[in-house]
Amino acid sequence: MRLGEDSLLLSRWLRDPLGIGGVMPSGADLSRMMARAVDPSRSGAIVELGGGTGSITSALLAAGIPKDRLIVLEREAELHRHLCDRFAGLTVLAADATDLAQSLGDLGVAKVAAVVSSLPMLSMPGREQQQVLGQAFGLLRRDGAFIQYTYGPGAPVSPARLADWGIEARVVGRSWRNLPPASVWRLRHLGSTVSDQDTPRAGAFLQQAAEACESVLQRFSPRRIGMRDPDRATDRRLEGFERTHRQ
Ligand SMILES: C[S@@+](CC[C@H](N)C(=O)[O-])C[C@H]1O[C@@H](n2cnc3c(N)ncnc32)[C@H](O)[C@@H]1O
Repeated sequence: MRLGEDSLLLSRWLRDPLGIGGVMPSGADLSRMMARAVDPSRSGAIVELGGGTGSITSALLAAGIPKDRLIVLEREAELHRHLCDRFAGLTVLAADATDLAQSLGDLGVAKVAAVVSSLPMLSMPGREQQQVLGQAFGLLRRDGAFIQYTYGPGAPVSPARLADWGIEARVVGRSWRNLPPASVWRLRHLGSTVSDQDTPRAGAFLQQAAEACESVLQRFSPRRIGMRDPDRATDRRLEGFERTHRQ
């Protein structure tokens, strides 16, 4: 943790406790655990949701994830500014995770290798959880992981909802040294291993997610709508993303 980052998060938390979801930045032990849960050999972008002060961003970079594979979303303006200052050259989007497919569509990114999330899932309404997970699993490559930590005693999303949506959740680590102690979960969509007949709602969930991602990509891809950022550096980065990640 860097000087001032704990007070930065605390000041944001005092304004919006449920929306920030944590008083302290993730500790070094938890951040490393989150980064280790990502398989860097899978191709595609790595997306971090709720970058906050950047502890997990920093651990992902230290674990060898190249800057040009990492995309960070943060919806709180001051934390977004902080992340941009701390990680020059990294793609940090001032965006809400419930608009994930559109945000990545604007970059021309259609598939991702892993999603790493610090979002306060437990305090999010079910509809928002479904939007985030639905879009994330629509973008993840087959068997791709959604990594989430939680301070709660159980899964980061209620087991009943996860079952409804056809998502399996497993603990992959516990950080007792973190304040407060946290557990790291790997969420995986079972769409490929269960039939629609067995779990009609899970099948419908995945189908809906895939359609949402596809229609957003068709409507908002910068190539398709001929968008050109006046800033040439951003423009070149968009082209790079399209070449690397779009199938
Ligand atoms: C627990 S804090 C981040 C902790 C972070 N790992 C750190 O060390 O600073 C959760 C973050 O998620 C962000 N957040 C919450 N809901 C969000 C959403 N729907 N979209 C994007 N960011 C969100 C908050 O603004 C906050 O920065």
